[in-house]
Amino acid sequence: MSDITRCLFPAAGYGTRFLPATKAMPKEMLPVLTKPLIQYGVEEAIEAGCDVMSIITGRGKRAITDHFDISYELEHQIQGSSKEKMLSDIRNIIDKCTFTYTRQNEMKGLGDAIYKGKVLVGEHNPFAVILADDLCVNPKGDGVLTQMVKLYEKYKCCIVACMEVPKEDVHKYGVIEGKIMENNVHIVSNMIEKPDNDKAPSNLAVIGRYILTPEIFEIIKKTKPGKNGELQITDALCEQAKNGMVLAYKFEGKRFDCGSVDGFVEATNYFYNLEKKK
Ligand code: UTP
Repeated sequence: MSDITRCLFPAAGYGTRFLPATKAMPKEMLPVLTKPLIQYGVEEAIEAGCDVMSIITGRGKRAITDHFDISYELEHQIQGSSKEKMLSDIRNIIDKCTFTYTRQNEMKGLGDAIYKGKVLVGEHNPFAVILADDLCVNPKGDGVLTQMVKLYEKYKCCIVACMEVPKEDVHKYGVIEGKIMENNVHIVSNMIEKPDNDKAPSNLAVIGRYILTPEIFEIIKKTKPGKNGELQITDALCEQAKNGMVLAYKFEGKRFDCGSVDGFVEATNYFYNLEKKK
C-alpha cells in the first residue's frame, strides 16, 4: 500500500466562467455525459490508492455532499428496474471511501483552500490534491495520479503534474523552471504564477494534480498573497523547491480544462465518442 491514502479536492471556487449554470450549482457537479466532474476525480484518486476524500467546499456547494451520500428515496424508486445499474458506480464509491468536508469561508486562493484541508488530511501525512475541473485521462495505462504516486514512492517529495502548452497560453498557468532529472521529470528551481507570455521561464505549465508533503502547511502559513491578491500554492511550492525538492512530472495522458467552456465541450465530445465506440 502506498503512503498516499488521502486526497484533497479544493472545490470552493465560484466557477464564474460557467455562469449562470454555476449560480446555484457547484462547478464540480457539472456533468460530462452523466457523471459530475468531481466523480471523475474521485475515481482517479481511488485508482491511485486513496480511500479518504477530503473536500473543501464553500457556500452553495451542498450538492457535492449529497452526491457522495445514499439517496434512499431515489434508490427505492428505481430498485429492480434497469436504471438501478446507473447508480452502481457511485454506490461502490460511497462504500469504499470516507468523505470529509470543511468550508473555505472566503475565496482567498488555492493555497488558502489547501491550508484549510490541514484538519482533514492531518499534519503528518503526505497527501494528493486533485482539482476536479482538470479532467485527466490516460487511455494507455495508469491514471495521472497513479503515475504520480509511483514517482512519490521513489523520491518522497512534493510533485506537481505539468504539461507543455503553447507559448501564447503560458499566462494562464503556473509555469516551472527546472532541470531534467530523468525522463519526463524536472527538478523545480522556480515557479511563477501566470507570468506574462514573454517572461515565462518555460512552457511547462502546472495542472491540477499535486502530491504534497505536510511541511507545505507551514510554508503556506508564511506565504504572502501573490497574483490577484490570492494565496497561491505556486508561491508556496516555489519556496519548498528552494528549501528541499519539488519535482514537476510531465504526465502521460490527456487533460481537459473543464473550468473553461471550450475544454468542457472537448471533454464531453471525447467521452461521448468513447461511449459510442462501446
Ligand atoms: P479557478 O481558478 O478555476 O477558479 O480555481 P474558480 O473560482 O473555480 O473558477 P472561475 O475562474 O471563477 O471560473 C481552480 C481550483 O481551485 C479551487 C477551485 O474550486 C478550483 O477547483 N479554489 C480556487 C478554491 O477552492 N478556493 C479558492 O479560493 C480558489
